[in-house]
Amino acid sequence: MSHSVGTSTRSLHADDLLNVVSDVAPPLHLSTTFRYSNDPEALVPAADVSSSDADHTSHIYSRLSAPNPTRFETILTALLNGNTISYSSGLSALHAALTLLNPRRISVGEGYHGCHGVIALFTRLTGLQKLDLDCAPDQLQEGDVILLETPVNPKGTAFDIAAYAEKAHSRGAYLIVDSTFGPPGLQDPFLFGADLVMHSGSKYFGGHSDVLCGVLATQRADWHAQLLKDRIFLGAVMGNMESWLGVRSLRTLEVRVQRQSENTTRLVSWLHAALHAPSPAPDSAEAAVQAVLAEVFHASVQETQGDWLSKQMPNGFGPVFSITMRDERLARQLPSKLHYFQHATSLGGVETLIEWRTMSDTTVDRRLLRISVGLENWEDLKADLVRAFRELGKLWREIR
Ligand SMILES: Cc1ncc(COP(=O)(O)O)c(C=O)c1O
Repeated sequence: MSHSVGTSTRSLHADDLLNVVSDVAPPLHLSTTFRYSNDPEALVPAADVSSSDADHTSHIYSRLSAPNPTRFETILTALLNGNTISYSSGLSALHAALTLLNPRRISVGEGYHGCHGVIALFTRLTGLQKLDLDCAPDQLQEGDVILLETPVNPKGTAFDIAAYAEKAHSRGAYLIVDSTFGPPGLQDPFLFGADLVMHSGSKYFGGHSDVLCGVLATQRADWHAQLLKDRIFLGAVMGNMESWLGVRSLRTLEVRVQRQSENTTRLVSWLHAALHAPSPAPDSAEAAVQAVLAEVFHASVQETQGDWLSKQMPNGFGPVFSITMRDERLARQLPSKLHYFQHATSLGGVETLIEWRTMSDTTVDRRLLRISVGLENWEDLKADLVRAFRELGKLWREIR
């Protein structure tokens, strides 16, 4: 499909070719197995099937392919600018990527702690060696991998994809971009040299906190074919129900993400300005913020050299940001003082979540809270924060 077609139009029509029934809303198929043709002449033995014969409306067994995951992948192939394969979770997608490339070294930053768990599995099995994200280029060799998460979990700050692509390619290594925090509409890592793009689809693709899935996208036909073969034996396929829900969610991906991104930038810019306001009046919102908040992290307030960030994310920044409080005790208390921010892990759903991040990540600053901004009206989120900060300020004066 032509790239001049807009993101939302692709979300709604890229799967039109799979409409084999007259239902406007795609049906949910639960069958694990599918009847072969009743015409003996039409039967093609497995050994004689070539991958170019692929008919996306014909299926054999749901560990190989099935109607709902195929529809989900077809839409994402149009949105991600690369052939897309779905998996049972974001981490199973990363597992499949490392199985495909089998690097001897992987250069990786802090990012999502679970990705380090997958890397540790490979270290146990293959001796995979972990290098810092900013290791010297000559520490990388042919076939090695840089795994770049941008924007990064939990802070929501961004890294320059083109610079890491250049570094990887100068050594014959590959760049995998985990673009979970920058879904389509916000950034396309392929435009900046990514070799493989990964997403935890459990976040913005599902978008309603009720789907667990992951995806890989590639522009290389040989990698696409190998990933499809590998997945048959990894067995980590996305469920029928999940992919049916996933298609429903992809229809609204661009509008959800745009609104979430705008809400986030407004909240962050207000918080940042309040935190740095000179001599605020004693009862002002700015004074309430300054009494308890230490730092705000997000790409929109990140200091960068050059204009790579506005080129990489021309339509807005990711909808997740982090804050650190002046003290761990304030961070522990904040979620319980908020009405519209639910205290839970994960991100990308329509509802705003806040997480005292140390509840699920053992590596993080204990004063840090991660916020995944939803579709609520941002002024209500702001008012909720001001009220909670005022309450915390009183408490802080009593306990410190
Ligand atoms: C950046 C990032 N990558 C990967 C994952 C793993 O995804 P999943 O939970 O779908 O396995 C997450 C989960 O939070 C994530 O935030």
